[in-house]
Amino acid sequence: LWLAVGTRQRQHGEPAVENGFIPYLGCALQFGANPLQFLRSRQRKYGHIFTCKIAGQYIHFLCDPFSYHSVIRQGRHLDWRKFHFATSVKAFGHDSFDPRHGYTTENLHQTFLKTLQGEALPSLIETMMGHLQDVMLRSDTLRPSKDQWEVDGIFAFCYKVMFESGYLTLFGKEFGDDKCQARQAAQKALVLNALENFKEFDKIFPALVAGLPIHVFKSAYSARENLARTMHAENLSKRKNVSDLISMRMILNDSLSTFNDLSKARTHVALLWASQANTLPATFWSLFYMIRSPDAMKAARKEVQQVLQDCGLMVDPSDPTLNLTRDRLDNMPVLDSIIKESMRLSSASMNVRVAKEDFLLHLDNQESYHIRKDDVIALYPPMLHYDPEIYEDPYEYKFDRFLDDKGQEKTTFYRHGRRLRYFYMPFGSGVTKCPGRFFAVYEIKQFLTLVLSYFDMELLDPAVKVPPLDQSRAGLGILQPSYDVDFRYKLKSSFKFD
Ligand code: HEM
Repeated sequence: LWLAVGTRQRQHGEPAVENGFIPYLGCALQFGANPLQFLRSRQRKYGHIFTCKIAGQYIHFLCDPFSYHSVIRQGRHLDWRKFHFATSVKAFGHDSFDPRHGYTTENLHQTFLKTLQGEALPSLIETMMGHLQDVMLRSDTLRPSKDQWEVDGIFAFCYKVMFESGYLTLFGKEFGDDKCQARQAAQKALVLNALENFKEFDKIFPALVAGLPIHVFKSAYSARENLARTMHAENLSKRKNVSDLISMRMILNDSLSTFNDLSKARTHVALLWASQANTLPATFWSLFYMIRSPDAMKAARKEVQQVLQDCGLMVDPSDPTLNLTRDRLDNMPVLDSIIKESMRLSSASMNVRVAKEDFLLHLDNQESYHIRKDDVIALYPPMLHYDPEIYEDPYEYKFDRFLDDKGQEKTTFYRHGRRLRYFYMPFGSGVTKCPGRFFAVYEIKQFLTLVLSYFDMELLDPAVKVPPLDQSRAGLGILQPSYDVDFRYKLKSSFKFD
């Protein structure tokens, strides 16, 4: 009897239910071990939609890409805020952003759109490009030489370069003389501390989303609080060139919310996490796959060389001030495809909505299913990304998969001869689609352009296997590699491209 307690019986018109064998956890362990395999096997058994109990929650998985639309469009039955705001509160410990809870009247969604897209982009791009080159060539983070190869892990390399550049782009630098060595050292120590704290906290992020309280993880808790301390308004106000995203949020926190100082600081930690947690592994996969594929390397070099030539830019590591406008970056379809293909293979973000009330969900094949209030409906895009009907040889990296016959962005993908509206979803979908997605792709493109411009790079083992994806973050975004892969780099001896 105790096994049956808390389990659901399928009612007429509802999707098939799998309660799993373990009370409360349900199917969580099988799902967690390999979500794609788990969902595929259930899809074979039950069809386009089925329900699984996972950690106490009934989740309806919708597996037919032609029916995604009924969940993604903003219908009156589905709520996206409930899940997203609750997750952020659980992980970062700030008061709720849901205006219905009464702590703030800020429309966070609008703030993100205003400060991360459209007119906000050129200055983010320019600032990032400056920081990337400072970190790669001016600071002591890498210290590359012309004569000697430096060996590093690709993930470690991406982490160092992208974290520091991205952090400074969003949170600015402390006021003061940038040339003063003591100040430079203090600045560097602050970023390195932030990086260590970020890593420590990020490790347990999946556990927090799953509902474990942060107090169980002492060092991760203090890492998060250390980060928050550096982001108290009095510390942020000592910084110059703070991005619109952070400065606007500071103003809105003060004017529209009743958050206390700690809660305000924690909202900035949440943004640091959102801006880095996916970008870092996405940069790793893009660089790794590019270096590993001679064809990708050749095509990328050619594209970068062409763009630099067209802009009349000279590569000079003693004066690293390359700058590419948004228009130029928009015109790099090869790098776009290299990045997209890397994310197709590594992304595993779950798209989630909560039912506001009992309602009927209509699928593309004319079937309808009863959904109960408070149930979760989920889409798992790896089911698309690894579908052999959509992507031939889906486990293979093909750098030009997202290029058409003319070498431009390919946007038409089919399943069984029918054109797909949704075929690539690493950034989520609909209203909850990542607001930082344009900036994210620009910054990875900038990173690739610069490493191709300034460095020679080789894998230590050219035949190295692709590291397996670390599934512990399945559902949460871009997966990390299970282990790092070594490469070597040095400054190009000639700054002409071959
Ligand atoms: C949310 C992916 C980079 C800011 C999200 C979501 C995904 C995602 C899947 C959740 C969408 C959903 O729940 O449906 C990515 C990937 C990135 C990336 C793959 C890099 C390759 C960035 C960057 C920024 C950013 C660079 C900011 C500078 C945000 C914010 C949210 C978000 C603020 C929360 C939006 C909301 O709740 O309304 N991202 N992201 N992301 N992302 Fe990104």
